[in-house]
Amino acid sequence: MTVILDGKKLRDKIFADLKSKLDKMPVKPTLAVVLVGDDPASQIYVNNKKKTAESLGINSVVIKYPSNISENELLSKVKELNSDKNITAILVQLPLPEHIDKFKIIDAISPEKDVDGLTPYNSGKLFTGEKPYVYPCTPKGILLLLDEYGIEVEGKHVVVIGRSNLVGKPVAQMLLNRNATVTVCHSKTKNLADITKTADILISAVGKNVVGEKYIKNNCVVVDVGIFRDNEGKIRGDVEFENVSKLASYISPVPGGVGPMTIASLMLNTVELAEGTKALRQ
Ligand code: GUN
Repeated sequence: MTVILDGKKLRDKIFADLKSKLDKMPVKPTLAVVLVGDDPASQIYVNNKKKTAESLGINSVVIKYPSNISENELLSKVKELNSDKNITAILVQLPLPEHIDKFKIIDAISPEKDVDGLTPYNSGKLFTGEKPYVYPCTPKGILLLLDEYGIEVEGKHVVVIGRSNLVGKPVAQMLLNRNATVTVCHSKTKNLADITKTADILISAVGKNVVGEKYIKNNCVVVDVGIFRDNEGKIRGDVEFENVSKLASYISPVPGGVGPMTIASLMLNTVELAEGTKALRQ
């Protein structure tokens, strides 16, 4: 029997716990989201983040800029948010326009307000195995989902497809810190299926349909991070769900798997940062 890794169910549980915690917090956290340009997907994500935050009792502000904003202007805004005592968490929505150096912007975020866990301070802590202020949202969501279903990673061979700073690299490092044996594959990997077929746990974060039944071994745990619209406008993941789910022991669906866990992690991170920075606000 294949078990579905139900991200919506776990998200709802996390939200219920967060809501009762937030009800008791005398000062609510405030999440600032910076959105540059008019990428339709980013706009949807940002609206969703704002709506979700507010439904839980987290304040949120969305700061929108046209795509021709200068790097310096954006940097000044980040610095202003860093020193604004009412703001407890900062998220700069990615991608940024090409004329802006995203690393410069991310590096400018105060680590204690870095709700994505993407600054060099937080990713460095993750790399050394120390505790960052928070872990990146999607990787954290994936581990929470595996934990919820009692899936042990220690000693397992985990294959990650994708090496982005948002997902592939941090999830690989978090799993390594938990004593998994981790292989990271990417667009230049040769004989991908030969490698993925040796995976006990396969995490695909590509954004294209890449994982068919020939890519996995029996009883593999399959985590699908990809999300895109196919030619017919249907939302799809990286994994051919129909075929692969017949072989997998556990599989996350798209939609309803990792996506809801990313937003749950963002809300968890927002609250964790606010708890850690209470002294700032007194
Ligand atoms: N764009 C897509 N996913 C994310 C995310 O988790 N954080 C940020 N900052 N931008 C994104």
